[in-house]
Amino acid sequence: MRVLVADAFPESSLTEMAELGHDCIHKPDTTTEQLSGELAGCDVLVVRSTKVPASVLAEADALRLVIRAGSGTNTIDCEAASERGIHVCNVPGRNSVAVAELAFGLLLALDRNIADNVIDLRAGHWDKKRYARARGIHGRRVGVIGLGQIGLEFAERAAAFGARVHAVANTQRDQQTRDRAHAIGVHFVDSLETLARTCDVLSLHVPATESTRHLLNRDLLAHVQPGTIILNTSRGELVDEDALIEAMEAKDVRAGIDVCADEPDTSTGSIDSPLAKHPNVYGTHHIGASTEQAQHAVAAEVVRMIDAFDAGNVVHC
Ligand code: MLT
Repeated sequence: MRVLVADAFPESSLTEMAELGHDCIHKPDTTTEQLSGELAGCDVLVVRSTKVPASVLAEADALRLVIRAGSGTNTIDCEAASERGIHVCNVPGRNSVAVAELAFGLLLALDRNIADNVIDLRAGHWDKKRYARARGIHGRRVGVIGLGQIGLEFAERAAAFGARVHAVANTQRDQQTRDRAHAIGVHFVDSLETLARTCDVLSLHVPATESTRHLLNRDLLAHVQPGTIILNTSRGELVDEDALIEAMEAKDVRAGIDVCADEPDTSTGSIDSPLAKHPNVYGTHHIGASTEQAQHAVAAEVVRMIDAFDAGNVVHC
């Protein structure tokens, strides 16, 4: 198989692919505009940040499989791919711990104002009083929106810090999720509104779909308490960013965000996000999955999928 890997990828997995007999082209900085040119003759495309629109798929005559080296496939035009008979696969689960760790890191950083502390100290200021507003995590109510793999990892960490974890009841959850939630001690409430009204922290862990677009909107934000911390390490599309900025100004809501609605098409570029610039926000560069462990685990699965696809086996996405 001729494989284009259009993003950073561990050397060991590139070697493994070559050893398995695949012709792997590694172009880690390929932009969306450059993709079409690079894809000539390729059977498989592996992407992480680079977006794959219909226009790219239309020109990729040999392409049969696109793998998103992460859990979300919203950066790929899946409908256009399916019309052309191109399979689109994701790699869920392998980076869940990394994303949950970052969400928790943002929570601790916001609670203790760590980034502002560091900036002030670097500038030579010593101001203990200014940073005396932390509430701590122990005993606080942490609402987890989405009890998938990442949500459960986050919930486990919150519980380990002594927080009271809350989530919305959902009868469609599988037994394994229910057992894990039970072991964590998740307390279930009847609705998102109740979660918003009763929690000190809300952390988003659902995928971006039509039904989750602007899940955190003006109506829901009307229920949150002053000083609530919102965490979004999932997708920018989940949040109505204007409404969140209004809530920050009206109720001193603060947010830890790893994702923005208008992220650049590639892993480097510029961004002009009023939300990310807001003083109540600690923002990061969509790095939730960027740990060595997560990227190695994702890459190993990508190699397995390519090999299975080559062997004519069904690739489970
Ligand atoms: C994901 O979908 O799992 C993350 O967005 C992955 C990433 O940024 O690598």
